[in-house]
Amino acid sequence: MSFSPELLKGQKALVTGGSSGIGEAIARALAAAGASVAVNYHSGDQEAQKIVEDIKAGGAEAIAIGADVSKEDEVKAMFGQMLKEFGTIDILVNNAGLQKDSAFTDMTLDHWNLVIGVNLTGQFLCAREAAKEFMRRGVQPHISAAAGKIICMSSVHEVIPWAGHVNYAASKGGINMMMRSIAQELAPQRIRVNSIAPGAIKTPINTSAWNTPEAEAKLLKLIPYGRIGVVEDIAKTAVWLASDDSDYVCGETMFVDGGMTLYPGFATGG
Ligand code: BGC
Repeated sequence: MSFSPELLKGQKALVTGGSSGIGEAIARALAAAGASVAVNYHSGDQEAQKIVEDIKAGGAEAIAIGADVSKEDEVKAMFGQMLKEFGTIDILVNNAGLQKDSAFTDMTLDHWNLVIGVNLTGQFLCAREAAKEFMRRGVQPHISAAAGKIICMSSVHEVIPWAGHVNYAASKGGINMMMRSIAQELAPQRIRVNSIAPGAIKTPINTSAWNTPEAEAKLLKLIPYGRIGVVEDIAKTAVWLASDDSDYVCGETMFVDGGMTLYPGFATGG
């Protein structure tokens, strides 16, 4: 991935769940595009520190901040630290998310609450704190045409039902309406809120879906474009959505999925 370091110059970004997978790639890409980056982590303390060191070695500013995004006090403390160290925030990437899969009738309330708590409530809590700072500060035309940008990490499962993953699919379906409603409410303040809906991307969350030849062959049947996604596919989209190149994009979900939402099962049937 190569970006002009002028693209996001002077902008301050926070990436939740930035210590691995898609979040890590986005944190590195935003820094390469010139942003200062706060890498939020929950359990990946050392991984986050390593990413911060790499970013600094590349000449950009970075810090690591530990917080469980489903906890209001921890989110407030994280934004407190972000504002203290970076002065403000221009870009929030609401990326932290997890899966706790089971057959529906075996799904525990704890696993339901955990997934909704991190994937949906966590995005609400972080978006609210970011929006308050965007509104306080307003547009700084020499930094960005917008007062702030929020990018919500959704999934193809905001539209594709997913048996065995009801909590996860419900959280992503919720993100669709949450994102669009926030976008509608905040657009007049020049705040842009959008989602990225990745398909199958090779990350730790779905290793079992691609790490054997049999699993990979089965997964590829769901992807018309014929390859499994890589984290850079998503990071490039995130940089674009964070930049003024997408300044007129507001309340949209970008499906980055190799055509998974084209329902390939219907290519020869139906
Ligand atoms: C899930 C992955 C899955 C992909 C496509 C993602 O949102 O986290 O586990 O491979 O959707 O089904």
